[in-house]
Amino acid sequence: MNNFEYKNPVKILFGKGEISKLKDEVPENVKIMLTYGGGSIKKNGVYGQVMEALAGWEIIEFGGIEPNPHYETCMKAVEVIKHENIGFLLSVGGGSVLDATKFIATAIYFEGDDPWDILAKGAEVKKAMPLADVITLPATGSEMNGNSVITKDSTKEKMAFSSLLIMPQFSILDPETIFSLPEKQVANGIVDAFVHVIEQYLTYPVNSPIQNRFAEGILLTLIEEGPKYLKNRDDYDSAANFMWAATMALNGLIGAGVPQDWATHMIGHELTAFHGIDHGRTLAIVLPGIMKVKSEQKKEKILQYGERVWNISEGDDEARVQKAIDKTVEFFESVGVPTKLKDYGVPVETTVKIVNRFVDRRFKIGENRDICPAEIQLVLEDRL
Ligand code: NZQ
Ligand code: ZN
Repeated sequence: MNNFEYKNPVKILFGKGEISKLKDEVPENVKIMLTYGGGSIKKNGVYGQVMEALAGWEIIEFGGIEPNPHYETCMKAVEVIKHENIGFLLSVGGGSVLDATKFIATAIYFEGDDPWDILAKGAEVKKAMPLADVITLPATGSEMNGNSVITKDSTKEKMAFSSLLIMPQFSILDPETIFSLPEKQVANGIVDAFVHVIEQYLTYPVNSPIQNRFAEGILLTLIEEGPKYLKNRDDYDSAANFMWAATMALNGLIGAGVPQDWATHMIGHELTAFHGIDHGRTLAIVLPGIMKVKSEQKKEKILQYGERVWNISEGDDEARVQKAIDKTVEFFESVGVPTKLKDYGVPVETTVKIVNRFVDRRFKIGENRDICPAEIQLVLEDRL
């Protein structure tokens, strides 16, 4: 196992009715900015529960944060905060609202010219306003990590940054809030959480049985509980299991001490940037290509994944690797997420644009930092 440092200070309040505990968790005598998206929270009763729990607090609302949140929108919130005496940010919604809130929390203190440098140039995050969230979509794990992914609409760039300072003070996960999710978003969430595990698991062995077994446990749970929840949308128990699996998939635990890939995410972000395809769907497109193109380097872990997750124990290595890829594709498609570029109307020209972006950025990706533009091209060609 590799050396690692691990700290996760996020307090989790999990279960039915937990939103009412906001009053015990939010600091007193502070003006709160409540951030939210396109209005789902006002339709499904979550907004009402939040406002009831926070009766007595002064609250400024900032709504309209879009999926794949825009830098431009975040900067509008920063302007509002400059003129109001806000002391705490509360995100109510999915990963996009929370990621935007994390960026806003630190952009307000940014000392350089443009807070976009935090994303584009890795400028240091020195300070952030305390934030918390009520998460209403199991997918990103943002509720228990220090990551944020922001899109600059004007240039169609989608970039990520991480800092311990933007980890939520607390996160409320009430599985009942997800009953109102459109089916498509449930499916996206299943795939996103699944691929988060894969990015931290399907690399090369470093003798890390705890991380492996945890990862396999999350994958198996998603395979069992995801489709169960899709079939029965008001089943509290499967909603709860799905929700906790998504959080556990990206809270740092399974990734501690092991190599991590993230190439599927890096390439997927470009598909969202160019075509606005939902994040989870981009991963379903790219992952099978990565598994194929990197099958030699990832062979040992793909075989282990095939055997422990999909019970593939027959055939030679090559056949088993192919079967593991096929099972993965089958699973994504079974929850209603297509896996080919043509399913989303993406033209061949986009693959060229994506490859060129990686040429320009000059960084290599994957657990061995050896996925170069030529390989990215092979991955995308495999998915046409
Ligand atoms: O905007 P509203 O009206 O709230 O509607 C949202 C949105 O349209 C809706 N929704 C959310 N909860 C709902 C609901 N509708 C009904 N009932 C509910 N309970 O769902 C739509 C999608 O929401 P969004 O927040 O965009 O989805 P998700 O949570 O999947 O977040 C995606 C974003 O997270 C980033 C992605 O790149 C993307 O920008 N990621 C963040 C990560 C992180 N912070 O660690 C890691 C991930 O890999 C990912 O990159
Ligand atoms: Zn993701």
